[in-house]
Amino acid sequence: MPAISASAPGKTILFGEHAVVYGFPAIAVPLPDISLTVIVQALPNQNSIHIVNTDLKEDFLIEEIEKQNPYNSALEVIRKFLKIDHLPAMRITLSSNIPLASGLGSSAAFAVAISKSVTSFLGFRLSLEDLNCIAYEIEKRQHGTPSGIDNTVICYQKPVFFLKDQPVEFINPSKPMTLILANSGIQSLTREAVEQVREKRDRERDLVDDIFYRIGSIANNARPLIEDGDLESIGKLMLENHQLLKELELSLDILDDLVEASMKTGAYGAKLCGSGNGGNVVALVPPEKSDMIKEVLIKKGAYSCLVSTVAPSKGGM
Ligand code: PMV
Repeated sequence: MPAISASAPGKTILFGEHAVVYGFPAIAVPLPDISLTVIVQALPNQNSIHIVNTDLKEDFLIEEIEKQNPYNSALEVIRKFLKIDHLPAMRITLSSNIPLASGLGSSAAFAVAISKSVTSFLGFRLSLEDLNCIAYEIEKRQHGTPSGIDNTVICYQKPVFFLKDQPVEFINPSKPMTLILANSGIQSLTREAVEQVREKRDRERDLVDDIFYRIGSIANNARPLIEDGDLESIGKLMLENHQLLKELELSLDILDDLVEASMKTGAYGAKLCGSGNGGNVVALVPPEKSDMIKEVLIKKGAYSCLVSTVAPSKGGM
């Protein structure tokens, strides 16, 4: 059997994180400049699944790790979806340059890439819809109550306007959007941030629901602006969204500093992205200023910066 390889990109959420878990709309875009790759190879005359993670220098057999480990639970979800009794011996090799636990979709990219590669290795040609369904189940095992936005934008590799449990809608930006992802270098777990927001909502229901409602309105208003290419107005909404995430107590001084420094250096807008409490700030910038803004953000304490452009799709939607 030939080796099968599948890659999945990173992502960033432009509008609506956290509120999306409660049914409000959100907008996310793929980041093709960072990706995670899974290669699956046959292991003839062997009877176990061998996992190799080249970044983390991990190398083990599946039976050596606990059931809740992401590899074990992902393979279990895939096996159940395909309705097969047991998986054959294989070597699964993973490599990635998506920063871990930083809001750029590393866990969803893992879920999508392992689903694509293992099902294809086993001879199944699944639709994107089915792959997304498997990836969502894998995400649920890792994060408890994910909205599904991360696996969806990564599986379809297109900008999405996302509502939980609704058919996916794609957005086509009419102008390229140059983004800088400035990494604070602080890792944070999505599950914990979602739990923190849930606890705040239990204490202050009216306040938090009002913030969610305002975040949802921002995402609704941003969609036509993205489709019209009104970068200045998109930027203003990003700042408003950041302010609301701050009111949810998800920002940190370093994230606020990176947002402020982006704005002072000429960004259209900036906000924390993903679960918060660390991770990345996403700034929408004029392309000619991207090098200068990147340099300033590194000086202000960003651990690393990635520049990525969301391009209009050629054939429309
Ligand atoms: O995993 P992250 O950091 O990209 O955050 C995902 C976005 C949340 O809205 C916080 C959670 C979710 O499931 O939508």
